Amino acid sequence: MIIGIVAVDRNGAIGKGGQLPWHYSADMKFFKETTTGHACVMGYKTWLTLKKPLPNRLNIVLTRQAEIEPQDSLLVVRDLESVLALIKTLKGDLFVIGGEQVYRSFLPFIEKWMVTEVPVTVEDADAFAPSGYLDDFQLEESRNIDDHLAVSFYKRAER
Ligand SMILES: NC(=O)c1ccc[n+]([C@@H]2O[C@H](COP(=O)([O-])OP(=O)(O)OC[C@H]3O[C@@H](n4cnc5c(N)ncnc54)[C@H](OP(=O)(O)O)[C@@H]3O)[C@@H](O)[C@H]2O)c1
Repeated sequence: MIIGIVAVDRNGAIGKGGQLPWHYSADMKFFKETTTGHACVMGYKTWLTLKKPLPNRLNIVLTRQAEIEPQDSLLVVRDLESVLALIKTLKGDLFVIGGEQVYRSFLPFIEKWMVTEVPVTVEDADAFAPSGYLDDFQLEESRNIDDHLAVSFYKRAER
């Protein structure tokens, strides 16, 4: 299954200046617990925020041109089609972990979204969840992961 996982502010912002504009340990823990043992696909700019592969996950990095030093659990891929071709070889799910460009590219293929609602408004944000990204989805469940944060789970509506 292809699952989008994202944290958004009140306006759908996800990033500023190439970074996450917040730090919530409960969300980091949720992300780690949810994605461990699965594959994560990310854009090159999001890869740059990590510096090394997320442990215990296959890290798939999309870039048209960047060269990345080979390392364990890292797969550098040049186009979306190559990622889609890999899916049947994966043991677990494929989590689409951002950023904006990659969420937009995978939107037609995403079957579920896990959305952390961050209770802030980021000034001058420059990366956003794609507009209308939840339009074809229905809410299944919302769960508090600490006093301030909730995660909402969506699945693609029946067509
Ligand atoms: N809040 C959250 O949940 C969350 C999650 C992840 C990231 N973020 C934030 O989002 C921001 C980054 O988002 P972004 O949209 O600027 O960058 P991004 O999606 O992380 O990376 C964009 C780069 O990925 C490569 N790429 C994207 N689509 C591709 C495709 N279809 N085929 C081949 N390569 C492709 C290109 O790399 P090349 O230019 O090298 O070809 C492109 O420049 C940061 O602020 C980050 O912190 C937030």
